[in-house]
Amino acid sequence: MADLKSDFVGIKSPNPFWLASAPPTDKEYNVRRAFEAGWGGVVWKTLGLDPHVVNVNGPRYGAIWGADRRLLGLNNIELITDRPLQTNLDEIKVVKRDYPDRAMVVSLMVPCEEEPWKFILPKVEDTGADGVELNFGCPHGMSERGMGSAVGQVPQYIEMVTRWVKANTRMPVIVKLTPNITDIKKPAEAAMRGGADAVSLINTINSITSVDLDLFAPEPTIDGKGAHGGYCGPAVKPIALNMVAEIARTPEMAHLPISGIGGITTWRDAAEFMALGARNVQVCTAAMTYGFKIVQEMISGLSEYMDEKGMTSVDNLVRRAVPNVTDWQHLNLNYVAKAKINQDLCISCGRCFAACEDTSHQAISMSEDRVFEVIDAECVACNLCVNVCPVEDCITMEAMAPGLVDPRTGKVVEPDYANWTTHPNNPAAKAAE
Ligand SMILES: Cc1cc2nc3c(=O)[nH]c(=O)nc-3n(C[C@H](O)[C@H](O)[C@H](O)COP(=O)(O)O)c2cc1C
Repeated sequence: MADLKSDFVGIKSPNPFWLASAPPTDKEYNVRRAFEAGWGGVVWKTLGLDPHVVNVNGPRYGAIWGADRRLLGLNNIELITDRPLQTNLDEIKVVKRDYPDRAMVVSLMVPCEEEPWKFILPKVEDTGADGVELNFGCPHGMSERGMGSAVGQVPQYIEMVTRWVKANTRMPVIVKLTPNITDIKKPAEAAMRGGADAVSLINTINSITSVDLDLFAPEPTIDGKGAHGGYCGPAVKPIALNMVAEIARTPEMAHLPISGIGGITTWRDAAEFMALGARNVQVCTAAMTYGFKIVQEMISGLSEYMDEKGMTSVDNLVRRAVPNVTDWQHLNLNYVAKAKINQDLCISCGRCFAACEDTSHQAISMSEDRVFEVIDAECVACNLCVNVCPVEDCITMEAMAPGLVDPRTGKVVEPDYANWTTHPNNPAAKAAE
């Protein structure tokens, strides 16, 4: 059986699934139940200085749903913890005492001066927590007060605060990054320069999910007004994956541990983050949507997958896809694929035809009795038909045997096997045989 044990910057947990800093980790009651359900660790909801903040008492969340009402994206306007600092510290201490094998990381956000960090860090150390995560990512409410993403958007501040924190604690320091920037590598490099043990990403993305067209105000609406919030959930996964990969494939940061966050709902999502460089993962929206027990699917799914692949530890999976993330100019232009429609599965809805005929390459024909077929000479394998088809696996992309077509002209050509790295006729592949 695959061993899911995880060691993230020296913080040990029975599996790589942690709950991200958010309402699920806001209090002792929640965290105990999370640990009972099987979560390997938590990042406690962000602590700040007293007097603690006050949250709105109207709706705090907005959402985007799929047609089946499945929650795809969640928007929130909550702040950091709205409970007294000492209450949180006391609870962290007893939960860590009772669950010594689980990771207990404490998220922190205090003003951008060294004194408040000097004040809070020993208090966190006193709880027996395993590490701290610096919240440089919260994009609403706190950023207007000069904290959260207001720090995370300025690499010099990230470096400066990380240095202060490293100078004032023996605990491992994880810097949580905001995605509300242009190039994620800059804040990650700054964290590394400041001495961070790891980075975690992503925090939420600036967003307005919808507008009330009677009140003419963004939703969620508080007494007629709305403010931008932070977006998360399955919709943000592609953005998060790319940002994780950008850091992981930068040679200077190849050894910087990454905790992957953003839209993780299933074991497969988690495995994808790990293959792209995350050494563990954190989850928020999925737990808020489905409850703590989703971790059981993550644990069994990941361990079954690892068994199938002959992987004995999570380290075998981490970074496996990083060498295959490349820049566009390195893609093989001699690789040729064509769409193929499985007539047995086709329900004749015609969506592939409409999409291809109206907006793409006029590469799908429709007969009088609504049989849809790919016109190979016109198909450029763009994949739009696959993506709009409502039936899974009905349309697939099939790599063409070499020598059949030129991707630009649709004419038969002799391909350059030397550039077709995965084809058996490639001289290197032949030599390897
Ligand atoms: C309601 C809510 C509150 C959050 N509060 C915090 C917080 O206090 N500190 C923090 O670092 N991130 C906070 N986050 C961000 C999450 O930790 C996480 O980075 C983000 O939701 C992306 O993960 P997900 O797609 O799994 O939700 C919050 C998210 C939500 C939805």
